[in-house]
Order: sequence, then C-alpha cells, then structure tokens
Amino acid sequence: MTDYAHETPRLWLQKMTVEDHLQGFHQLWNKEEATQSVKETVEDAKAWMLTTLPTPEDPDIDKYAILLRPVEENPQPWVDERGRPTMIGMTGTNRFSDEGMETGYCMHVAYWGRGYAGEAFRGFLELFWGLEERRRFMQLVAKVDEGNVASSRIIARAGGVKAGILKEWYSRPGSNGVKGDVAFWLIDRPGVSEDEMKEWKEEIKKQMVRKKELEKAKEERKIVEKQPAERLGKE
Ligand SMILES: CC(C)(COP(=O)(O)OP(=O)(O)OC[C@H]1O[C@@H](n2cnc3c(N)ncnc32)[C@H](O)[C@@H]1OP(=O)(O)O)[C@@H](O)C(=O)NCCC(=O)NCCS
Repeated sequence: MTDYAHETPRLWLQKMTVEDHLQGFHQLWNKEEATQSVKETVEDAKAWMLTTLPTPEDPDIDKYAILLRPVEENPQPWVDERGRPTMIGMTGTNRFSDEGMETGYCMHVAYWGRGYAGEAFRGFLELFWGLEERRRFMQLVAKVDEGNVASSRIIARAGGVKAGILKEWYSRPGSNGVKGDVAFWLIDRPGVSEDEMKEWKEEIKKQMVRKKELEKAKEERKIVEKQPAERLGKE
C-alpha cells in the first residue's frame, strides 16, 4: 500500500476522508470519554467530520486517521470489517487562533494507555514539518485541559513548552455554560530562527484578520439568504 502519509513502528497515518474514515470517525466521536461533544449517529458524525476537514476556503488544515499496522505488538484485529486497517484515532491541525495554528489528537478509548497517542503525535509532527506546503509554518499550538495529565505529557515529550493559560476559554457540554481554563503549549519547528518566528507571528495576525473577514462574509450571506424567506412569511 502506498497511500499512507507516514509510518511509525506500530502505526500508519493516512489523510482523513469521509469516504475512507467515516466509520472510524463515528466510533471515535460516539464515546463520551474521548470527546467533548458526543455524536450519536453516523449522520451527526459526518456533519461534524466535514467541519473538521480542509476545504477550498480553509486549505491550511491537515487531518490524519491513525491506523494500526499489522505488527505483532498490536492487538488484533488489525483490519476492520471492510478489510481496511483499523482506525484507532486521529491527529492533525484544527484551526488558526490568536496563539497560532492549533494541533491535537484523539484516541479511541479501547486503545488508551499503550503509548499510541504519543507515537502518533510525534509521527504527525515529523510528517508536518517535512510537508512542502507547510514550510511557512514555524510553530504549532496545543491547547490542553490542565487536568489532562496524559495529553500534557504527550506534548512535553514532543518538544512542546507550556506558554500560558487561557482563562475561561471553553465550556464543556454539561457544564451549564461554566467556562474552564486551558493551558496552551507551543511546539516550534526544529531549527527555526528568530527572524522566521517573527515572520510567522505576523502571518498569524494576517490569518486571523482573514478568518474574521470570512466569518463576517458568511454571516452576511446567511442574512441575505434569510431575507426572501422572511419576506415570503410576511406576504
Ligand atoms: C489524551 C489521550 C490522547 C491519551 O492517549 P493514550 O494513547 O492513552 O496516550 P499514551 O498512552 O501515548 O500516554 C501518554 C503519556 O501519558 C502518560 N499517561 C497516560 N495516562 C496517564 C495518567 N492517567 N496519569 C499520568 N500519566 C498518564 C503515559 O505514561 C504516557 O507518558 P510517557 O510517554 O512518558 O510514557 C487520550 O486519553 C484521549 O484521546 N483523550 C480524549 C481526547 C483528548 O484529551 N485529547 C487531547 C486534547 S489536547
């Protein structure tokens, strides 16, 4: 097989698509332990999956399915019911934020505690820093719940440095709107110079302006699309 983007001792990373990975994605996102927002049905999972993948308007996102390689140390079955390598998680980049391009990962609960997330994430970074189309990226940012010891450990081992706390940054489902804090960790491209980092920080600012413009345009489109319906309702 040649379409794996990267290989680690026990895992493959493969570009994530609806066609190949919806089933695995659904298995991942229908577990309360692994996600902040459970997607019960395949349709819900698909709608959510589409928001996480790159689009022509948002081409800077990378998403990889984490697959079991058929090596002895891995638990069987190595393949799913369609005969494809079992998907045990996902990793990649998520979105631009004021702190930079966010990165992360998520593993199927059945595979926790075996070092897979760390192995996959280090593999992803190796792959990412080598991508021609990502050469301008000088840093990634990981946002982690302070209590998430395993995740903090993974990022530290991957060379991340804790850079600060974002206060009241997100609210978990079921938290009645109470917002929690997260720590943000920065992971530098190996060998990056001060000038390159300065340029990158400028690029983040530009990206955030672009993102806000796109969001505004989307909102305006929604208002324009709503107007005829509202007019119809009044007539
Ligand atoms: C966080 C998560 C990815 C960890 O997956 P995993 O495959 O079990 O992680 P690993 O087995 O690679 O363990 C990572 C490290 O944390 C350590 N660790 C794992 N569980 C731990 C715990 N409860 N307490 C302390 N250390 C722990 C491991 O020993 C390992 O350290 P090491 O590399 O020094 O040996 C997984 O629990 C998950 O998907 N959680 C939900 C989603 C999430 O939190 N994503 C991260 C958002 S930033």
